Amino acid sequence: MNILLTGGAGYIGSHTALALMARGHQLVLVDNFSNSQPEVLKRLSNLSQGMPGSFDFHQLDICDAKALAAVFAAKAAAGQHFDAVIHFAGLKAVGESAREPLKYYQHNVAGTVTLLNVMQQYQVNCLVFSSSATVYGDPQSLPLTEQSPTGPQSVYGRSKFMVEHILADYCAANAAFSAVVLRYFNPVGAHPSGQLGEDPQGIPNNLLPFISQVAVGRREALTVFGNDYPTPDGTGVRDYIHVLDLADGHVRALEQLCNQAGQHLFNLGTGQGYSVLEMVEAFRQVSGHPIPLHFAPRRPGDVSACYADAGKARQQLGWQAQLNLTDMVSDTWRWQQQNPQGYRTANQAVGTAVEENADV
Ligand code: NAD
Ligand code: UFG
Repeated sequence: MNILLTGGAGYIGSHTALALMARGHQLVLVDNFSNSQPEVLKRLSNLSQGMPGSFDFHQLDICDAKALAAVFAAKAAAGQHFDAVIHFAGLKAVGESAREPLKYYQHNVAGTVTLLNVMQQYQVNCLVFSSSATVYGDPQSLPLTEQSPTGPQSVYGRSKFMVEHILADYCAANAAFSAVVLRYFNPVGAHPSGQLGEDPQGIPNNLLPFISQVAVGRREALTVFGNDYPTPDGTGVRDYIHVLDLADGHVRALEQLCNQAGQHLFNLGTGQGYSVLEMVEAFRQVSGHPIPLHFAPRRPGDVSACYADAGKARQQLGWQAQLNLTDMVSDTWRWQQQNPQGYRTANQAVGTAVEENADV
């Protein structure tokens, strides 16, 4: 298939691109590099050597309708068309979304509408969308099924939820359109080569990148947000899923559902929850490094526990997470060791370290 990946240079986009090339798909990646580095493209080229698929890249912002339309026009000029779009591009920092809501609605919501308009213009009728378990808000019961009550608690979460509604409305109006909404739980891990991984800019918001930066000596200690949750050890419980499993979920959803009109909604998680302290212990064992930590009050907006019922994806897509906690942690650790400053060069990293220290 010919597939457009927005946000294709990002963490989940780059891993999914590789999985799609391994299946022989022809890709066009677009990204504005607001949260990624061009170095990703070199790594993708190397890793995809010998694979049946291939990729092109265009640097652009999805809010720029003209630039986006030019990519579709170039495809048409070559006598081809996109069979589908996988839409990863978006902003994802929950705290920042509260401080800059308009930026989040612009990129995540308006950007998606711009993309849908261009897709409509070029009659591209399949979109796979990166949604989030955050649309469930504070769970009333666990595990979360796709039918569980929703109620996102952050601007970020509401931006994802709004797009889900927009896609439902567009499917209702366009009988040929297929929208696959994938609600990710907590993506972690890295490519086993150590060449692709998560490269947060500045201080990581998420648990595993923070732990791995402590283990590698880039940060002194982990702050554990809350030890008084109603969980077995008092710390927050989440459904961590390996990014390779997530990538495989996209491949299956795309290959099976793109020609089936309507909105299709799936949780992508493992169904297994781990606490913060269990993640710390797993990382300590795999890395052999101590992970100093201290406890602090709960982080505003955090829920006590969140994990998926992944039965629908298993039954309807034949998809099930294959990789376990040790895989997630050892692949993260390999990536962190091989790329202690992420994708940035040593020079850029010096600048970043100075800025970060000023913040801390
Ligand atoms: P990421 O930041 O690594 O990747 C997103 C990519 O989109 C980045 O490369 C960024 O430069 C690009 N981008 C952002 N805005 C853009 C714009 N306006 N135009 C063009 N490119 C733009 O994030 P990720 O972890 O790979 O997440 C991918 C998607 O999955 C996001 O939509 C995110 O909200 C969603 N998601 C992520 C998680 C998670 O924990 N990683 C969980 C649930 C959902
Ligand atoms: N945590 C810490 N210390 C840290 C970072 C996190 O104790 O430095 C704890 C959190 O309090 C939580 C757990 O580790 O209990 C996981 O936190 P993450 O930030 O890694 O993940 P969240 O579940 O809070 O959020 C993630 C994504 C969101 C997404 C949400 C639901 O970051 O974008 O999952 O899909 F919305």
